[in-house]
Amino acid sequence: MPAGRPPALGARALGAVPAGGQGELRAWRARPADYVRDCNVAAMEIREVAVVGLGTMGAGIAEVFARAGIGVVAMEADAEALRRGVGILDASLSRAVSRGRLAAHEQAAIRSRVRPAEAFSEAAAVDLAIEVVPERLEIKRQVFAELDRVCSPTAILATNTSSLSVTAIAAATKHPGRVIGMHFFNPAPVMRLVEVVSTVLTADGVAAAVPDLARRLGKSPVQVSDRAGFVANALLLPYLNHAVHLLETGYASREDIDLAATAGIGLPMGPLALLDLIGLDTALSIMEVLDGEFGGPRYTAAPLLRRLAEAGRTGRKSGRGIYDYADRSTDKPHSNGNIAASAAPDTVTLIGSGDDAEADLASALASAGINVTRNPAHPTDLVLIAAAAGRPVLPAAHATGRPDQAVGLHLAGGGLAEVVQTSLSSEQAVASGLALAARLGHTSVRVPDRPGFLVGALLYPHLADAVRMVQDNYASPADIDTAMTLGCGYPEGPFQLLDAVGAGAVLAGLESMRTAYGYSSFAPPPLLAEHAITGIPFGASSEPAGAGSASAGSAAASSAS
Ligand code: 3HC
Repeated sequence: MPAGRPPALGARALGAVPAGGQGELRAWRARPADYVRDCNVAAMEIREVAVVGLGTMGAGIAEVFARAGIGVVAMEADAEALRRGVGILDASLSRAVSRGRLAAHEQAAIRSRVRPAEAFSEAAAVDLAIEVVPERLEIKRQVFAELDRVCSPTAILATNTSSLSVTAIAAATKHPGRVIGMHFFNPAPVMRLVEVVSTVLTADGVAAAVPDLARRLGKSPVQVSDRAGFVANALLLPYLNHAVHLLETGYASREDIDLAATAGIGLPMGPLALLDLIGLDTALSIMEVLDGEFGGPRYTAAPLLRRLAEAGRTGRKSGRGIYDYADRSTDKPHSNGNIAASAAPDTVTLIGSGDDAEADLASALASAGINVTRNPAHPTDLVLIAAAAGRPVLPAAHATGRPDQAVGLHLAGGGLAEVVQTSLSSEQAVASGLALAARLGHTSVRVPDRPGFLVGALLYPHLADAVRMVQDNYASPADIDTAMTLGCGYPEGPFQLLDAVGAGAVLAGLESMRTAYGYSSFAPPPLLAEHAITGIPFGASSEPAGAGSASAGSAAASSAS
């Protein structure tokens, strides 16, 4: 290294002591430890920031600042990482231009605000530095030690940690009062939420400036406590992890799991595609932090998640995760549902319980011009059991005497049909059920005859986690709904969904899952049972459950029937 040239970020992040660093450290120590009391940078005064780490999130965050007219020192460990990171930013801007969302001259102006840098000393004059390096406390602490050393005394130091303790990161710095969590969501240029994590050590001026800054960036700041995973990740990651568990145990295919979430629940992405977007390595790190803080089976990383991350199949960023992205046409990996491999049946034996599920199916079959009999003794192409949540298909299929020719069909809402395969269903019957669903105009997923089928198996434990957060006085239903709509693109928050589905239906779904599997993670939280008993919705409305928010969660609501 040439004399006088500061060492690169990588060397420092790995703990190398910079030349002359000890002297500078001593100079810092000579300052009053509480100088941050004077750290009163107003959000409008923030003109230049450093973004340390230009992976997917860092590059996105750099874009957000630059788009808001703020100068960005974009920092990476070495020239190659810097080239890759700036490439992510350039690709995102070019995509916006090609979609007609950004003029070429605006792209040039945004890009001109970004100054790539490899050395920490380049951040000396910034008003705020945000760290976006991998989720490992020791790496983050080293980065903060460097920022502490080079940045001006009035600069705010932010971390984009997605799960680690901001207090622990802050406490390792010389001036913890200027350290704050500023947690963005992927893709950072699109998702509106910023979780702001002030610690007991954060100076008032810093705690006030950062939400203002987030608003200046066009984001919606939400104050959250310094608890593992804050609000959104603590809720999202166990749900994503559970989807991996369903995949690895052969419960359903990856495409069907994702389709159940998008078509059946109405979420913008399926959990497995979302894991590929977040990065399986990042997801694993977050699960490990959640497991360390909360423990229990809901927070234990699925072995497949760990194996894929270990194998370097980290998702979109590596070209392969749960899906393969080598072929760019798979950028949106959702399938169009199961392609029927068989002709739709002309004649069907319909077996039901005289409930809505049966009536709905009977009318759908009639509209499609399919001959229906209710007598199992009549020969037909398929025995169709009108499936409903909480009622296994097998007993009814067995009672017909033709269980191999029988499948269940559950109209889950959102145009999604769950074709329920029992342990006795033949492949031919399943193929015929899938073809029938297509003929009825539904996309379909193939699901086992287990409680909740597939939509419920994903949704009920996720909603129970949200209720537990409220029960533990960690966040309000409104805060959780805001976090998940603005941070994860949910069309409706978990509590709007829950009120639409009904606490009683979710409670019954969880109880049947707990009874079937014996897992404590499916135990319904007492607060859910209270709402089920009283019929009081979680939303602000005092109307009885089911009376309000008619459009909310319509797909998932009908999945509970
Ligand atoms: N970078 C920049 N912009 C992007 C982008 C990206 N990677 N991906 C999509 N966009 C933009 C597009 O340009 C488009 O903008 P436009 O309307 O101005 O043209 C807009 O987003 C919509 O994109 P598409 O039409 O291509 O795709 P979709 O409609 O399918 O939306 C999505 C894509 C916004 C990613 C949507 O699927 C979504 O909201 N998914 C959920 C994402 C989510 O849950 N994020 C949070 C993950 S958790 C997290 O990040 C926390 C961390 O700590 C782990």
